[in-house]
Amino acid sequence: MESEIASWFSVIFRFVHVLASIMWIGNSILFTWMELNLIAPKAGDENTDKDLLGHLDMLHGGGVFHLQKRVINPGAIPSPLHWFMWQSYTTWITGTLLLISVFYINGGAPLLDSSKSALTGWGAIGMSVGGIIAWWLVYDTIWRSKLKEVPALAVLLTFALLMTATVYLNQYFNGRAVFLQVGVMLGTSMTANVFVHIIRNQKKFMAALLAGKPHDLKYGKQAKTRSMHNHYMTFPVLFMMLSAHFPQLISADWLSPILGVIIVSLMLVKFFMNSRYYFSGWLVSIFIVFLIAVGLIKVLLIMPASTSDVGLTDAQKGSKLFVAQGCAVCHQVGSSQLAPNLDKIYNSTVQLADGGKVVADEAYLRESIERPQAKVVKGYPASMPPVSLTKEQLDYLIAYLKTR
Ligand code: HEC
Repeated sequence: MESEIASWFSVIFRFVHVLASIMWIGNSILFTWMELNLIAPKAGDENTDKDLLGHLDMLHGGGVFHLQKRVINPGAIPSPLHWFMWQSYTTWITGTLLLISVFYINGGAPLLDSSKSALTGWGAIGMSVGGIIAWWLVYDTIWRSKLKEVPALAVLLTFALLMTATVYLNQYFNGRAVFLQVGVMLGTSMTANVFVHIIRNQKKFMAALLAGKPHDLKYGKQAKTRSMHNHYMTFPVLFMMLSAHFPQLISADWLSPILGVIIVSLMLVKFFMNSRYYFSGWLVSIFIVFLIAVGLIKVLLIMPASTSDVGLTDAQKGSKLFVAQGCAVCHQVGSSQLAPNLDKIYNSTVQLADGGKVVADEAYLRESIERPQAKVVKGYPASMPPVSLTKEQLDYLIAYLKTR
């Protein structure tokens, strides 16, 4: 019963998380698009209304949205006036619940990689929570400081510190957890930007307006910088959230540089997408960024590891293969949602779909991997794909499964 409730919650959190994030990111992209395509009033034109910052016409739903961006006049505050924040907060709240239910369960075991360190699960949870809070403080401090007046330098410092955090996390966490942790660190900063900067600044100038003071554009400018940061973080964060589906990347030895290439190239892609209306080479540039990124990642994937497999036990090699071969995508630690939970599988009794029972000895485990359809576990579709493994690789996987 308990596990049934847990799996329903997981369905609900995940679905609401995806929905809310689509709505939030969709808005972020649309608002930034409108901002970039706004036509400013002609300078020196006596007839333009002085409160107008720009206008834009958009065809949709059988009519034209004639949009104006304006300074708000304290005497004429529009009503109703729509605020945008709950998509962001909902994304963060459901994301946090998911993080707990997927990675912090079983005392943090799903974060760990026993071939990398002997850190305990609770230590890993502490590192994850601490990392999320620390990242926000570091990022926010940089972008509050004088350094923000030299944006190139602030960007470089932020990126260098993020890469340092990745290298550090990669000494303790498994690859999937590293990608996800970095995604959560950036995603939390995005919601904190909304909460601490964007909405607060909007509240400040709205309060001033209500007190009859003129609209101070200074607050809007601060909020806009953070909105821009959020906008450029969307693509990398989405990629990291989906990274469980990219086993060859999350199991790579050169994980941090690969993550770095992904973050930079996706931000560049967004940049060139935004330049579409004033830079004719935008599409070619996106292809070039894509080719360079794929080339770099390919090199990093082939490059021999700095720490090789020498000295690893068979079970540890199996543990790496389990991720690299994509097994971990379905057989998630501590979860039996997509595929049977393989914890303590060795020598346990397995109920089969045809009503029979079998003891999960070595022969059964081998058969389950080599010919998944031979015996199908009760309650699951026969959906496990066959994989081609060398004899050695199969031995390592078996050795690993025996220790789980
Ligand atoms: C697409 C999802 C998927 C992937 C990828 C996958 N499995 Fe499975 N696996 C399943 C499902 C579903 C079952 C249960 C149905 C069955 O027995 O065929 C299963 C069953 C098993 C079993 C038997 C479990 C039991 O409780 O008796 C073993 C062992 C196993 N998988 C190991 C692996 C290994 C090792 C890999 C990687 C090489 C892997 N699986 C990849 C979905 C997957």
